[in-house]
Amino acid sequence: MADMDGFKDAAAYGIGTPQKNEAFFLKGNENQGWGVKNRLSRIFNPKTGHTVMLAFDHGFIMGPTSGLERIDLTINPLVEYADCLMCTRGVLRSVVPPTTSKPVCLRTDGGTTILTELNLNRVYDVEDVIRLNVSAMAVMVACGDKASEQITTHNLVHTVDMGAKYGIPVLGVTAVGKDMARDARYFGLATRVCAENGASFVKTYYTEEGFEKVVAQCPVPIVIAGGKKLPEDKALELAYKAIQAGAAGVDMGRNVFQSAKPLAMMKAISAVVHQGLSAQDAFQLYNDEK
Ligand code: R5P
Repeated sequence: MADMDGFKDAAAYGIGTPQKNEAFFLKGNENQGWGVKNRLSRIFNPKTGHTVMLAFDHGFIMGPTSGLERIDLTINPLVEYADCLMCTRGVLRSVVPPTTSKPVCLRTDGGTTILTELNLNRVYDVEDVIRLNVSAMAVMVACGDKASEQITTHNLVHTVDMGAKYGIPVLGVTAVGKDMARDARYFGLATRVCAENGASFVKTYYTEEGFEKVVAQCPVPIVIAGGKKLPEDKALELAYKAIQAGAAGVDMGRNVFQSAKPLAMMKAISAVVHQGLSAQDAFQLYNDEK
């Protein structure tokens, strides 16, 4: 029992000051449980409502793609500048220091590679996900792809069920493929399907036309992938336009780790996403960084 010597009577009851019930800052997630909200608050900065996720999960389909040959050398120095790390469990266990306090959005499905048919994936055992103490699970959904639409949608449904059981939010990742359109109409459908099946946030691609409609019709936050490597000023413009159109952040890979100056790129993207810096000013920031 606690030592009662010098015990002070409780007095600070705040009578007359109602306990606050604050609305959760991320759209569409008000009715989630505490665990989901807490994990989302680690991924998204509650002050800005935005996030810069660093994606380096490409190896599970592409092998040692340019910039990811040695993740310990190229990605680990960037970790402190990211809000969230997105990778596979193999890389997390083998390369990412467990001393990091950054939240992890774990790529939770795997199966086929670029050498065969993409997206015929199955999902990880949720117990292994829990062992890795992750903040979110990311699952690909391939709407419109005859071979994999059903299996990938089932993957999402199953993962959301597991996430609901253990308080782990799910990132729905909209696939792109050779037979799938890359316009606002398609991404609107695909992001909505992810949200309707219970994703807490959705990753998709920016479209020059109609992206604000993609964001508006999706009841949960959207983050954008960067896609193939662009010149740095164009990649910053992409991030800027997406944020201005309502995206809640980026989940970028190649435009960071294939950049001539990955660290400078991280800082410039972060300024666009969190401070609303213009693409031109962010490119200046990129150039000013050594
Ligand atoms: C795609 O399946 C991967 O999950 C990447 O995480 C995603 O495409 C983002 O990376 P990038 O910005 O290189 O497109």
